[in-house]
Amino acid sequence: MAEGGNLAAPVMRRGARLQPDQTGRAAWRRTYHLGPPQLAAKDDRAGGVDTTTSQTALTLLHLGTHPELRQQLIDHPELYRTATDEFLRYFSVNQQLSRTVTRDATVGGQQLRRNDRVVISWLAANHDEQEFEHADEVVLDRTPNRHLAFGLGPHRCIGSHLARLMSEVMVRAVLARIPDYQVDLDGVYQYRGNPSMTGLGELPVTFTPVVSRGTSQP
Ligand code: HEM
Repeated sequence: MAEGGNLAAPVMRRGARLQPDQTGRAAWRRTYHLGPPQLAAKDDRAGGVDTTTSQTALTLLHLGTHPELRQQLIDHPELYRTATDEFLRYFSVNQQLSRTVTRDATVGGQQLRRNDRVVISWLAANHDEQEFEHADEVVLDRTPNRHLAFGLGPHRCIGSHLARLMSEVMVRAVLARIPDYQVDLDGVYQYRGNPSMTGLGELPVTFTPVVSRGTSQP
């Protein structure tokens, strides 16, 4: 990792504060401020950084390009609970991880030998039609939703509850403050900081400033 890089945090570009009579412009972009001393903490914290920012950015992109879903969430805030898990399933931002086989075994008809490397795709599992009806659609009230976005087994994500909460709080705040935001699709680009992750590097939007519906002023 280059000096001066590299953990992610979304920010709204300065100057994007809501002002009366202005059309707002904002861009959620990743900024990287951690230098070498902080990198020692990477393993503990990276799990909770580019995952959650990616999850939130992709959710906002999806809601920004699917007005009917956005309106459904605004009209029915009780859906946030299931919707948050549905977006986790749908995007599976930590798409895959690898494992080393510890003993010879047969899995799904495949012969595996000790020390083989295997890829586990949470994304594929989360789009399995045998488990999820209309797996390639976002269904805000999907239940049950036994997704594997946080992995499985002894290494299952230790931050899953926090991640759910953070994502929900951020999406709620955006829909409360700038519910009509429009995504500038030409300016959206993919996050490429982590090969096993999907996410956004930048999500530019325009919006009409409105009076806050319950969130505090920044
Ligand atoms: C959308 C958000 C998140 C997603 C999709 C996610 C996904 C995952 C996945 C799939 C694993 C399993 C890794 C494996 O099997 O080797 C994992 C592990 C882990 N996650 Fe998360 N994570 C998220 C947020 C967080 C947050 C907020 C934290 C901490 C505050 C966190 C901390 C960790 C840690 C420490 C591990 C390693 C657990 C272990 O190896 O025992 N994650 N995460």
